[in-house]
Amino acid sequence: MSDRTRHGLSTRLTNYGDPEFSSYLRRSFAKSMGYSGDMLARPVVGIAYPASGFNNCHRNFPEMLGAVKRGVLAAGALPLEFPTISLGEVFLSPTSLKYRNLMSMDTEEMIRAQPMDSVVLMGGCDKTVPAQLMGAASADIPAIQIVTGPMMTSRHDGERLGACTDCRRFWARFRAGEIAREEIEDVESKLATTAGTCAIMGTASTMACIAEALGMALPGSAAIPAVHADRLRAAEATGDAAVRLIGSGIRPSDVITTESVENALRVVLALGGSTNAVIHLTAIAGRLGIPLPLEWLNQISDTTPVLVNLKPTGEHYMEDFHAAGGLCAVLRELRPMLKLDCLTVTGDTLGERIDAFAGPVDRHVIASATAPLEVEGGLVALFGSLAPRGAIMKRSAADRNLFEKTGRAIVFDSPGDLAERIDDPALDVCADDFLVLKNAGPLSPSGMPEAGYLPIPKKLAARGVRDMVRISDARMSGSAFGTVILHVTPEAAAPGPFALVRSGDRITISVKEKRIDLHVSEAELERREASSAPAAPVDQRGYSRLYADEVLQADQGCDFRFLLPAGSGS
Ligand code: FES
Repeated sequence: MSDRTRHGLSTRLTNYGDPEFSSYLRRSFAKSMGYSGDMLARPVVGIAYPASGFNNCHRNFPEMLGAVKRGVLAAGALPLEFPTISLGEVFLSPTSLKYRNLMSMDTEEMIRAQPMDSVVLMGGCDKTVPAQLMGAASADIPAIQIVTGPMMTSRHDGERLGACTDCRRFWARFRAGEIAREEIEDVESKLATTAGTCAIMGTASTMACIAEALGMALPGSAAIPAVHADRLRAAEATGDAAVRLIGSGIRPSDVITTESVENALRVVLALGGSTNAVIHLTAIAGRLGIPLPLEWLNQISDTTPVLVNLKPTGEHYMEDFHAAGGLCAVLRELRPMLKLDCLTVTGDTLGERIDAFAGPVDRHVIASATAPLEVEGGLVALFGSLAPRGAIMKRSAADRNLFEKTGRAIVFDSPGDLAERIDDPALDVCADDFLVLKNAGPLSPSGMPEAGYLPIPKKLAARGVRDMVRISDARMSGSAFGTVILHVTPEAAAPGPFALVRSGDRITISVKEKRIDLHVSEAELERREASSAPAAPVDQRGYSRLYADEVLQADQGCDFRFLLPAGSGS
């Protein structure tokens, strides 16, 4: 049998020096699992399956797996799931981002090493979908994504609650002394009550929409709630589509192109999506040698309206978004701005998918392009003497009164320093100051935590201050909000001006000019650099050492240098 006609278990044989023996041995061992010869002769659909007791968001995976397998079997192929590591957002220390690249390597290598003709990527929680898309893009065999879907909301004292904007809102009220410990404990039991990912347009929901906008998932599948019967139907249809992908031979590199990345970026902006999504989309595109400069983000942001009224910036939740028409409705509004010829995993173009959407749209949740919520996109990149390679701001979640402002920097040297001093009654800080957090970037020991949403100092919160300019090299949870400037690049742990900023320095931000500038002379910065002590070497081994040696800055997606395709540069 030639390589071109081989499929399923007869491909990628274990090397014993005799291919026929390898094939015979594999069939024999596979038969020990009770499969018939007919089953073992079929094409194989692998199913990347990151279920874990440490991942609440994937609680519905066993049921979804059954539905995916049903779809594969009905279409005539053999479904075989394989475990990969799972990244439960709140169960990983120091951060789930640190392990995203590890999961992408696990996914890529297991796709490549095992005999499968196509692969279904089952993901959901924040970093799992980008990790799977990165791995699948590098492996580049036919692949399709299905997500777990968002959680449903619950109720507290007559109001709706959903993770995790409400987690932060109630925590801020508790910190300000507005609610008692008994109430915060009650709320704790009501924030996350079903299977699925966070119930708002946070990172997980944004990444689900990116997968669909790129064309890597079925149309209409991103927003279906995890517990809805449609979620299982989407899983079954994904299994069927994975078998058809074998016939069409469409690969991730046919679907993820410069044009589809532009579409995905436009969708992130129209959703008012998570800042984390920019890092992840940069990393996914980077695996196929597609650059995503932050200047491009600004160009697209200036011409993309915000259409979706979802928390953290708006009022509604993901279950409302699904009922309102979901991503298909958003794509239809954006139609004149999209690259419609992009191929998707079903073989349809994006334009054909949009034309097939006939559903009604709830305008309370999804605005029309002619009457948008905001005329410009939700995210903007700022450049200047404090961040020569850029920083990100979610302007749709920020206070417009703080967009053009100069302030005094109050600097915290690390997340530990922040925790120690932010609530110190003696801290010299007022509402007009800029809170600055350093050493929370990708190279820092903290692993780029979602610490960029610095808490308002307790004494100011108690006086009613709800927002301040906050600047860091950290990330921010997709569920957070405020005038928060993130991903300052180069980060403080790398050479550059951010490492040298000190308390008392003046900083100017201008969203209109897309600038962030430090008012300290070159000569003074040089003096500070010369007098700064070199970072003490950290004794690391294993994955932490690999991470420290290879991780790239935020503007390069925080991927590992050696995972980029040869010649794409870094
Ligand atoms: Fe998994 Fe929010 S904790 S998506």
